[in-house]
Amino acid sequence: MATETNPARRIIQLREELEQHNQAYHGSDDPAVSDQEYDQLFQELQQLEAAHPQLKSDLSPTGKVGAPAKNTFQQVRHEEPMLSLANAHSEQDFRDWLKRVNPNNQPMAFTCEPKMDGLAVRLEYRNGVLQRAATRGDGQVGEDVTNNLLTIPEVPRQLNWSRNYKGHPADPEPGSTECPEYLDVRGEVFMTKRSLKEVNVKRIAKGEPELLNTRNAAAGGLRQLDPREARERQLSFYAYSWRNPPARVTGHHQGLQQLQHAGLPTVDRQFHCETVDQVIRQFKQLQQDRQSLDYDIDGMVIKVDDLTTQNQLGNASREPRWAIAWKFPPEGAVTTLLDIEISHGRFGRLTPVAVLSAVQLHGITVRSASLHNEEDIHRKNLRIGDKVVVERAGDVIPQVTRPANPVDTENFPMFQMPADCPSCGQKVTTVPGEVGHWCENDDCPSRLPEQLTHFVGRSCMDIDGLGETWCKLLIEHGLVSNPGDLYHLTREQLLTLPRMGNSMATRILNGIEASRHRPLNKVFYGLGIYRLGRDVSKTLMEVCSSVQQAQQLTVEQLTWLPNIGGTIAEATQRGLQQPRVNHLLERMAAGGAVMAKLPEDRPGYGTVEATNQSAVQAGAARNEEEKRTMEQSTQSRTLNGQTYVVTGKIEGYTRTEVEGLIQQHGGRVASSVNKNVNWLVVGEKAGSKLKKAQQLDIGIMDAKTFFAHVEGRINWPE
Ligand code: IVH
Repeated sequence: MATETNPARRIIQLREELEQHNQAYHGSDDPAVSDQEYDQLFQELQQLEAAHPQLKSDLSPTGKVGAPAKNTFQQVRHEEPMLSLANAHSEQDFRDWLKRVNPNNQPMAFTCEPKMDGLAVRLEYRNGVLQRAATRGDGQVGEDVTNNLLTIPEVPRQLNWSRNYKGHPADPEPGSTECPEYLDVRGEVFMTKRSLKEVNVKRIAKGEPELLNTRNAAAGGLRQLDPREARERQLSFYAYSWRNPPARVTGHHQGLQQLQHAGLPTVDRQFHCETVDQVIRQFKQLQQDRQSLDYDIDGMVIKVDDLTTQNQLGNASREPRWAIAWKFPPEGAVTTLLDIEISHGRFGRLTPVAVLSAVQLHGITVRSASLHNEEDIHRKNLRIGDKVVVERAGDVIPQVTRPANPVDTENFPMFQMPADCPSCGQKVTTVPGEVGHWCENDDCPSRLPEQLTHFVGRSCMDIDGLGETWCKLLIEHGLVSNPGDLYHLTREQLLTLPRMGNSMATRILNGIEASRHRPLNKVFYGLGIYRLGRDVSKTLMEVCSSVQQAQQLTVEQLTWLPNIGGTIAEATQRGLQQPRVNHLLERMAAGGAVMAKLPEDRPGYGTVEATNQSAVQAGAARNEEEKRTMEQSTQSRTLNGQTYVVTGKIEGYTRTEVEGLIQQHGGRVASSVNKNVNWLVVGEKAGSKLKKAQQLDIGIMDAKTFFAHVEGRINWPE
């Protein structure tokens, strides 16, 4: 099955897969994958979630796995939120930022620092004594990791304020032992490359899995409940910012120097730049030196040095305006392109997939990568047997980008897509003027795995417990040859699958049972018809009370409905007539799937029966008023009938406005958290509702994620 290249879908795929492995592990004591493979998937998910914070979910296995340990750290509310940084990916991005911070091109000094690839922590010193160290968490609330921080030898428990006095302007007055009463220092906990190697030597000797990269190793170290375990990771710390320096400290650079004098390790390789050219030169230099540093960095942070200017610029919602992280372009690894396999999409699209000799890329083992299409392979001149460069753009999905040694490339044959479908033998077709190859056989067996995975997915029949891996196994073992077969599965059959335990079988059977009552739009979408997407499914549900009724609609009638243009109408009409679809519907019905419009799905206007057959035409096309109603009610359903509770303050909105938005976009609003609530939207200063939602395991999303859902930028979760 093809690995999703769309990050949102890949995240869902990974979550399902990991859930299954968790189940297999707990349910049958017989894990389906090795720990290493599990860790790899887990880390891919973590990295994707880190790269796409708007897709984070408290329901994700990444949140759950560490949960027991997490809960036992004390929570720390940051008085001043711990901010993140805006990113620049090019010189242009950097210059755009410059225009914002210095529109009149006044003389301005900057401090450049490596962007450490670790975890942000905050250290609090009172009268020079370390009181507490906390992680960033969500920026508002982090965890108390003082004991683990204290395992870092360079972090002083007691600052020595006058010890290193050298007459620096940032130092206290000569002879004074003055020390600020309260010090809030921010910095990065990280692991050196050397430590990673040393720790791994020990781990291998003990038969423990290797730690894959310094960042995850540091994150894992900081989350150890037992400080002795944290000590074993040999963590390091660099301070990079000081929240409350005394007034005589006027520059960032100067402030860090003072911290250093007081005994704190500060970020290495800071550069004070007086001009923009110096900054750019520094960036190039740092990029060149990157490999030779003993710690991982992924860019350079540029900070306006003058603290008064910093204050004037202030902060945007999650990041200061006075700093930017200029990221390095992705780095590649060289490996052999062993083969190009064909993966089959659920609509018959054939996609080439690179089979690679396993290679480590930023700590992840890469064995395959999507190649998009034949044209792309030719354009990049990628050939089977040749050495190629694999890169992870934005550290996310691996891509094969170019031949490693273009001179050798000519020795290898050019790749051609097969003329016949490798699975059913039917002629492969192309559309003139379009890239892409297709097997047009609706019954081609290679489509089934993707069809089934789609069918059981959240947006369709939402069958709890079933994900890609189980779908594949069900097909391989001949238990399912059509998604409708799911409704005939018995426990005994399920138990014949490898690694299937009783508890997992119960979960799947319960999931199937629950799915017998899914609303009609989900059934429409689950049919897996080309161009019959979510919106069309909703429209069809709103005018039809059964799939059979939709099958009666002509192309013309379909085009009268909202969201449906000519091309979609044709594909939908054709798709609904497929024998495969009829067979699927028969199997579903015979297996007890309801597939009817449930009362709560009825919109504010009539169904086909209620308005009579001709009213589909009249109502949808000629009766403008009714058409408008129809359009309105299908206009925005991005929140899709889910129930939301809002808590805390959401910047720029009153509570009533947020609740209004929820209703406008098809969601429901509840005032208190109970088990019927799907989501808690958390603003600033959330209180008891948050706790309750955590207890009840209700989905929690921050304001940013919420708005992304409202705007339909994330379709997950439904
Ligand atoms: S300054 C208020 N300086 O990058 C400004 N951050 O992507 C806070 N980071 O959460 C950040 N090296 O963990 C700063 N030299 C550096 C840094 C740095 C690494 C991390 C930090 C932050 C993240 C944002």
